[in-house]
Amino acid sequence: MNKQALTYDDIQLVPSYSTVTSRKNIDLSTKVTKRYSIQIPLVASCMDTVCESEMAVALAEIGGVGCIHRFMSVQHQLHEVSIVAKAAADLFIKNNSNTTIPVMAAVGANGDYAERAAELVKAGANIILIDVAHGHHENVKTAINHLKKLLPAHIDIIAGNIASAAAAKDLEAWGADGLRVGVGGGSLCTTRIKTGFGVPNVTCLENILAITSIPVMADGGIRASGDIAKALALGASSVMLGSLIAGTKEAPGQIIEKPNGLYKRYRGAASLETKTVHGQEQRNVEGESTVIPFKGGVKFVVEGLLDGVRSALSYGGANNLKAFKPEYVIVTHAGQTEAKPHLL
Ligand code: XMP
Repeated sequence: MNKQALTYDDIQLVPSYSTVTSRKNIDLSTKVTKRYSIQIPLVASCMDTVCESEMAVALAEIGGVGCIHRFMSVQHQLHEVSIVAKAAADLFIKNNSNTTIPVMAAVGANGDYAERAAELVKAGANIILIDVAHGHHENVKTAINHLKKLLPAHIDIIAGNIASAAAAKDLEAWGADGLRVGVGGGSLCTTRIKTGFGVPNVTCLENILAITSIPVMADGGIRASGDIAKALALGASSVMLGSLIAGTKEAPGQIIEKPNGLYKRYRGAASLETKTVHGQEQRNVEGESTVIPFKGGVKFVVEGLLDGVRSALSYGGANNLKAFKPEYVIVTHAGQTEAKPHLL
C-alpha cells in the first residue's frame, strides 16, 4: 500500500486530444452493479435526509438511481420501494427501454436485514445495498452469503463501505456485485477524527480499482462536478451523492424558513440527531448534522452537475465513460489556490 494518499483536491486532470464535436453527444451511461445499468453515473445516498421515494423517482426519471435508506420500519421502506418500482416500471414502458431500471434499497448486516431484504425484493427492489460503515467485516461476509442464497438470482448486492484493496478482493470473493468505496471522506463524517481511520479518496479508489473487476461507486466527499469527473477518470463506475443533492425539494424533510433564506436539514447517518430521531442508542456517534440552503428541484441541480461532467469528458477527449482515462498531475498548495477563482 502506498503510504502517501491523495484526495480530489490534490490532483488535476490533464486535458487530452479531443474529437468531441458536441457535449450533447457524450454518453454517460454506466454500470451500477454487474447486472444493472444507469444512464447517468449518479446514485443518491441511502441517508434519511437524502433518499426516499421522491428522490429515487426523480433520479430514475433522469437516468440515475436513488438508494432508499433503511432508517424506517420494514413496512415503511416497502411502501417507499413499491412507489419507486411502480414509477420505474412506467418509465421502462415510456422510454421503450431495453435494460431493466434499477430499484435500490439499503439494509444493515444484522438484526432484521435478511427478512427486510426478502420483503424489499418482493416490493420491487432489484439491488440490495448492505449499508455498513466498515464493510470489510465478518458480518458483511455472512450477510452477502445469506442474501445470495435467499434472494432470486437476478438480485444484485452492493457492499461497503470499504477503503482497501484487500477489502475489495474479499467482498468480490464473498459475492458482491458492486462496491461502495470511501471511508471517512463524507461531508459530515467524523470517523477520521474520532477513530483515525480512513483513506483519502483518490488513493482509496486507485488501490481498489487496480484489483477489482466489479463496478465501483465512489462515495463521500464529492463537492462539485469536478470531483465527479475525477472519480470517473480514475475508473469509478458511478458516484454516490449526499450533500450535493441534500437540500433539494425531493430530499426528505421540511423546508425551514429563516430570516436569511430557506434551508433543509442534512444529517450524517451516524450523527447524534439521526440516532435520536430513530430511537437508536446514542453511542458511537461518527457524524454531524446541519442545515443547508434549500436548492430547489433535484433535476436542475443534477443537470448543472452533468454539464460539468460532459465538459470534463470533452476535455478528456472521450465520448463515453469507458474512453475517459485522462492522466492526472499532483498539485501543490499553490496549484490548489490557482485552481479556484483567486481574483475576487
Ligand atoms: P457527502 O460528502 O456526499 O457524503 O455528503 C455522503 C456519504 O457520507 C457517508 N456518511 C457518513 N459517514 N458518518 C460517517 O462517517 C456519518 O454519520 C455519515 N453519514 C453519511 C456515507 O457514505 C454517505 O453516502
